[in-house]
Amino acid sequence: MSNGMIESISKAFWAHSSATKRSFFLLLGLTIVSTGQGSGCIRPSMVQHGSTNLTDTNRSLFPVGTVLQYSCDPGYLPAGPSVLTCTTLGDWSSEPPRCIHSDVCQPPYQLENGGYTCHPSPCGRLSHGTMIQYFCDDGYALKGDYRFRTCQYGKWDNLMPISCLMEQDRDPTLPLGMPALSIVASTASSVALILLLVVLFVLLQPKLKSLHR
Ligand SMILES: *[C@@H]1O[C@H](CO)[C@@H](O)[C@H](O)[C@H]1NC(C)=O
Ligand SMILES: *[C@@H]1O[C@H](CO)[C@@H](O)[C@H](O)[C@H]1NC(C)=O
Repeated sequence: MSNGMIESISKAFWAHSSATKRSFFLLLGLTIVSTGQGSGCIRPSMVQHGSTNLTDTNRSLFPVGTVLQYSCDPGYLPAGPSVLTCTTLGDWSSEPPRCIHSDVCQPPYQLENGGYTCHPSPCGRLSHGTMIQYFCDDGYALKGDYRFRTCQYGKWDNLMPISCLMEQDRDPTLPLGMPALSIVASTASSVALILLLVVLFVLLQPKLKSLHR
């Protein structure tokens, strides 16, 4: 047993030990980098039939405190929380919601100075086939062609805007139900016709005169 042998054993030990230490610190460093404060949350998974207000499409890491709002396409309802926050731990406060197909329609557009009734009555679950009928309060008249909406597999079939106007806002001289646009159009076309007749008359006048001679 020589000193040389002990020396080489201890050298080997220290070499091994420092390698372990090095990899330990490397691992620690990586852990701090990947989960440490300020690193944020990784991009959450996409939601089928839904979307979020995540405008920064190229980013993969979002800062702590980022708030995401999820919404589902028409005909789908969110299952689970639809607002996610990036926590200091680098996790989102929850998984993104799932968007589940639903035949139930969202509450319909609310009329100002009016309302709606449901068929079947009363208004409950706005499921497929439910029909609503808009009406206006006293002193207001409906502006818009069609006062009915039907829930079709989770979507309202008619998205045409509709509103209630004060009765005196309507021009009493206009025939009832005749949209102002068609009046403008018919006025414009009569003016055009008269102009055309005048132009024809002016053009044909010399010929008529020559015929008389
Ligand atoms: C996002 O990435 C696309 C291609 O991956 C690139 O063309 C575009 O310029 C990037 N936008 C920003 C804002 O970095
Ligand atoms: C998303 O919308 C929520 C609620 O409207 C808002 O608080 C949040 O800042 C928005 N997030 C982004 C990334 O625009």
